[in-house]
Amino acid sequence: MSKTVHYLKDYQAPAYTVSHTDLHFDIQEPYTTVQADLAVVPQNIGAPLVLDGSAELLSVRINGNDVNDYTLADEKLTIANVPHEAFTLSVATRIKPSENKSLMGLYASGGNLFTQCEPEGFRKITFYPDRPDVMSVFTTTITADESRYPVLLSNGNKTDSGKLSDGRHWVKWSDPFAKPSYLFALVAGDLAKTSDSFTTRSGKKVAIEFYTAAADQNKTGFAVESLKNAMRWDETRFDLEYDLDIYMVVAVGDFNMGAMENKGLNIFNTKYVLADSRTATDADFAGIESVIAHEYFHNWTGNRVTCRDWFQLSLKEGLTVFRDQEFSADRAGMLTRIENVALLRQHQFPEDAGPTAHPVRPASYEEMNNFYTMTVYEKGAEVVRMYHTFLGEAGFQKGMKLYFQRHDGQAVTCDDFRAAMADANGFNFDQFALWYSQAGTPVLDVATEAQNNGDYLIRIKQHIPATPDMADKKPMMIPVKIALFSAETDSFGQPVAFGLNDSDALQTETVLRVTEAEQTFVLKGVNRQVVPSLLRGFSAPVHLNYPYSDEDLSVLLAADNDPFARWEAGQTLYRRAIAANETALAQKQPLPEHTKLLQAVEYVLKADLDAGFKAMLLGIPPEAELWADRDAIDPLRIHHAREALLDIIATRFKDYFYALNSEGAQHEQQADPATRYEYSPELAGWRSLRNVCRTFVLRADPAHIDIVAERYAAMAQNMTHEWGILSAVNHNESDKRNELLTAFAQKFSEDALVMDKYFMLVASSRRSDTLTQVQTALQHPKFSLENPNKARSLLGAFSRNIPHFHAENGSGYAFIADKVMEIDRFNPQVAARLVQAFNICNKLEPVRRQHMTEQLKRIQAQQGLSKDTAEIVGKILA
Ligand code: TRP
Ligand code: ZN
Repeated sequence: MSKTVHYLKDYQAPAYTVSHTDLHFDIQEPYTTVQADLAVVPQNIGAPLVLDGSAELLSVRINGNDVNDYTLADEKLTIANVPHEAFTLSVATRIKPSENKSLMGLYASGGNLFTQCEPEGFRKITFYPDRPDVMSVFTTTITADESRYPVLLSNGNKTDSGKLSDGRHWVKWSDPFAKPSYLFALVAGDLAKTSDSFTTRSGKKVAIEFYTAAADQNKTGFAVESLKNAMRWDETRFDLEYDLDIYMVVAVGDFNMGAMENKGLNIFNTKYVLADSRTATDADFAGIESVIAHEYFHNWTGNRVTCRDWFQLSLKEGLTVFRDQEFSADRAGMLTRIENVALLRQHQFPEDAGPTAHPVRPASYEEMNNFYTMTVYEKGAEVVRMYHTFLGEAGFQKGMKLYFQRHDGQAVTCDDFRAAMADANGFNFDQFALWYSQAGTPVLDVATEAQNNGDYLIRIKQHIPATPDMADKKPMMIPVKIALFSAETDSFGQPVAFGLNDSDALQTETVLRVTEAEQTFVLKGVNRQVVPSLLRGFSAPVHLNYPYSDEDLSVLLAADNDPFARWEAGQTLYRRAIAANETALAQKQPLPEHTKLLQAVEYVLKADLDAGFKAMLLGIPPEAELWADRDAIDPLRIHHAREALLDIIATRFKDYFYALNSEGAQHEQQADPATRYEYSPELAGWRSLRNVCRTFVLRADPAHIDIVAERYAAMAQNMTHEWGILSAVNHNESDKRNELLTAFAQKFSEDALVMDKYFMLVASSRRSDTLTQVQTALQHPKFSLENPNKARSLLGAFSRNIPHFHAENGSGYAFIADKVMEIDRFNPQVAARLVQAFNICNKLEPVRRQHMTEQLKRIQAQQGLSKDTAEIVGKILA
């Protein structure tokens, strides 16, 4: 199979645009026919008209006359001769949604019909210039059997409807805002509606409608509230109001990703809509709040101003993730930032260091679906955050204002965004452009030197590692936020003020603007011994090395007033301890004492800290982070070193963990019984701390499973507790664990989202029989490989289960490869994601690398392999 690579440098403006798009969907069984009438405007007169499409073509007409002189090849319809003036192109197509298992285009789920068009799903519905820089005003008429499809939805406002004699009915929707085809949506089915409303700051009343299966209607309350909170927040923080009279959200159980921001008609994975405290954990609630907000925020950053081409995806995604992170931080507090950083380091840093590494604005792609990545989303958000760090909130908002002033209604590039930030503030962001074109996580090596005259020198060297797409890289513009803390006894842990070259004013925090490969900054008037706090708030997505002593780290952990820096000091201590264990294990030596680390853990356990923060400080770096910068990785050796540290902490502090867990229980008992189990950041903090304690207790004392099993019945009124308990016992080798999991699955057999949790538990266990249990679970009546949530819960979780996926005999790799090949036949997008579990291949020790390579070659040889999976496998094997 020949591959087609698309390049950013080849961008050309569209030869034809479409001012109006008038769609007629006639939903019949099993076919839906689509009549598309496009008002086409030539931009490059005389050029052939080329439309994207893979639906079955029924007819083509221009200005009402049949066209027979066209070619149809490689999913493109080409008409060589078309009028030189504006004309109407009419295309009729026919599709079979019930057989569409890719979940792109128009597809069936639970008897209802849904669309997913981003990025290139619209072409599966009709023939069209399916690219984001063609923006058109859409009207959509849907005709269907009324009893089977009482609800017929599309973008914009409902402008007309009627009944036909044969039990069919029709509805017409008009969206006044021009939009690209990827934002088109249609929903048809039997769905229950939950109504609410929101009055905008300027007094306009917006109807809010949530559509779900009837049985799920009682689980929409939290999502509706989240939406209203997001609408209010965008008005106050970004001065942005909603622009249509209606905002609809539809929940669907079969969905490839989290949610989709279609204009006025968001379509959501049920996972990000449905929740009550009985079935959803606190983390699920937080996820709903942030995804509901994310899709809402896209209305301005994505829909009103959209992307010129798909290389610019981060223009809307990075910016919108930044906005949803800020929303969550404003609502839930300081822990949000640490969670964002932990996610980035666990998933984006490995991507940036692996075979699929790409810049925030990729230079090329084979399949666009493969570029909805941690880099485009999460690193993209960090890039937006760096503008904010350089400019401050007021300057950043000035930049946003100018961005909307210049580009409302347009399809633009990341450079346009950067120019708005620069021009609104008179700030030179030229060098900053490199963040969009250079992949790889920059490494900062920092050294400090205190001089007798009170000058404190900070020397920073930067380098950006080579990535498969680029060897040599230029120095970037990096904001490094710093502070100093006293290491002297009389003022221990106090911030120490300093002066900067160009101003007399003393300060306790500043942002160093790093621009050179090597650079020295001078802080003045530093007359005591200090510990530097570097990269505060994680001010840039980089690796930072500094030769801290364990004492320095203890100072920061105890006294730094930046929560991220404090947490990071603890993480560094953990990382060092794990590395020391690994050395000891390799040399068959006794494990080290870990004196400093254990003092630090004891400090955390005793300190008067927010419960959620305490839980986070007790979290040990995940394996994926420990693999950074290494090669010839033996995943099990690192795993054992990490496990050994957890065992030491569990044994040493068992009594603390029991005690803290009881303290949390008392705290909960004091809460109002009516809201005790409801989601709120404060109670969530205690619950997460209790879950951390439970895990340590079960590790120290596996026989404790009997007592936990008894308590389980009482605690099982709240999914956060229930999940915490099951997670804590999940690795237990006794039958009791199996009984508990089976009881859980029986209790929730009718709740698809809770069953996802069950499959995740099965696949995440360290128990020796996990692979067998996972294979059995594939046959479970509630499991379906065709449902992405199920596939991700069982197979995605298994591929992150270090001891089993990386089993030395290669059985874990072979199992996942089989499933990738199976899924690839019907849902390439999901298969291509799963296969990225093999990204680590070339960094593994030789035996495992060999096993993985064999499996990758087996996948590559599959007949008819999708371009999605082929692109990823090709990059890993390259
Ligand atoms: N634009 C969506 C978001 O970030 C995500 C998205 C892209 C998506 N492609 C998709 C969702 C395909 C579902 C299926 O909010
Ligand atoms: Zn998005």
